[in-house]
Amino acid sequence: MTDPPPLPEPLAQQLATLGQQRLLAHWGQLEPTARDRLGEQLAGIDWRQVAAMRRLAADDTAAAALPVDAAWLTAAHTPAGPRLRTGGPSPGGLLTPAVAADCGTALLARGGAGAILVAGGQASRLRCEGPKGIYPVGPVSQASLFELLLGRVREIATRSGRPIPLAIMTSSATDSDTRAFLSEHAFFGLPPEHVLIFQQADLPALALEALDLLLDAHDHVAVAPDGHGGLLAALVAAGGLDWFAQRGVEHVASFQVDNPLAMPLDPEFLGYHLLADAEFSTQVVEKQQPAERVGVVAEHDGMHRVIEYSDLSDELAAARSPDGRLHLRAGSIAVHAFALAFLRRAAAAPDSLPLHLARKAVACLDAAGQLQRPAEPNAFKFERFIFDLMPFAQRVLTVEIEAAEGFAPLKNPPGAAADAPEHVQAALSAQAHRRCAEAGVAVADGIVIELSPAVFTAADIRQRVPSGRIDAAQVI
Ligand code: UTP
Repeated sequence: MTDPPPLPEPLAQQLATLGQQRLLAHWGQLEPTARDRLGEQLAGIDWRQVAAMRRLAADDTAAAALPVDAAWLTAAHTPAGPRLRTGGPSPGGLLTPAVAADCGTALLARGGAGAILVAGGQASRLRCEGPKGIYPVGPVSQASLFELLLGRVREIATRSGRPIPLAIMTSSATDSDTRAFLSEHAFFGLPPEHVLIFQQADLPALALEALDLLLDAHDHVAVAPDGHGGLLAALVAAGGLDWFAQRGVEHVASFQVDNPLAMPLDPEFLGYHLLADAEFSTQVVEKQQPAERVGVVAEHDGMHRVIEYSDLSDELAAARSPDGRLHLRAGSIAVHAFALAFLRRAAAAPDSLPLHLARKAVACLDAAGQLQRPAEPNAFKFERFIFDLMPFAQRVLTVEIEAAEGFAPLKNPPGAAADAPEHVQAALSAQAHRRCAEAGVAVADGIVIELSPAVFTAADIRQRVPSGRIDAAQVI
């Protein structure tokens, strides 16, 4: 038997320099295709970045001691509407929800709005088969997250009379299944030429103590998507900024696949963003309890940033204003609007999105080459967060929404205490109940109902329920 071809020299040298030859432990026994696969994966790894990640992990304690103190104030909000309240730079005294909504509607009508849906996460808590976006959440229809979210974009575009270009970010964990699902469902009615699917990058995990890369198969290094902040580099690499610009987009709203109540293209939200001339606007909900695991938007000397809950001391997280509300209470829900020009500027700044690290349980091969699935964290995973662009923005606007109207995240499996499918379905049904009540449509107690993505106004509901009464579960 002949020896297998060695790894190309510069790469072998690179592994030796970083002490990572262990990744070739099974090289000699691999089939040629498996060897090619591992060789290609190793060649695709940015080893300079790996070196930086190892330095970051070694310095983990320093990174955790972020200077967050009481000088950081909650991003301000002033009441402005029944469902949305706004704060930040004042666009003038005449601002009303109706003025903002008109402005956002005008942007949509001139085709100036685009959207980015981030759908690259591994859904490790939900533990579902396939990408989270295909998970059924419609309380009556069992419609998937993708169907509800893309349906909303489709209907807003229809009403605006202009397409809304939508870029969908996938990852190695979700790409092929997402593409297959969306094409099987004809992009839920969105014109394919206005949908761009692009894939974010992966980053290797590093073993906790040794900071070594790990194998999760004889021919595969354990990697994970590089966080929702990976969207900027991946979008640029896919030509996405030009793709938006060629379609006349001036502002892009981004949202996450696991929140079926998300309203990134709400005309009032877009209007506040435009009227404030903001480069980065973000929706927040009021954080009520110190222990809520939500990042908060905070401001210091005119600079805004999102502070992760893990970076807040218990004392600061629990600090309250004289009115009894939390001192830092602008809970981030990851619905943002960006000026396209701002994204271009941020993309040109090499350090605009730093790496964060977290200790996670990562499946990997043991010394005997057997796959182990540890229950406890055994490795560092690295991610970028898109909200880290906030300090780079000239003007940041926070728009406070009612959580019940715009935030029902699906994170956990059925039966969990919070953010499980049944909570998401209950939130969707509750919203439908409120809308019906506002429209004067009576709904029998305890009935599960659902709004179709085509329903926006009280008139829509009355038209779809001419009897003015709903006695059984239905999609309106
Ligand atoms: P989460 O951080 O909640 O991750 O992502 P997740 O994959 O949904 O769930 P866990 O943490 O593994 O249980 C919030 C949003 O950001 C997207 C997700 O798809 C989700 O819409 N995301 C997250 C990405 O697009 N890429 C990533 O690398 C991470």
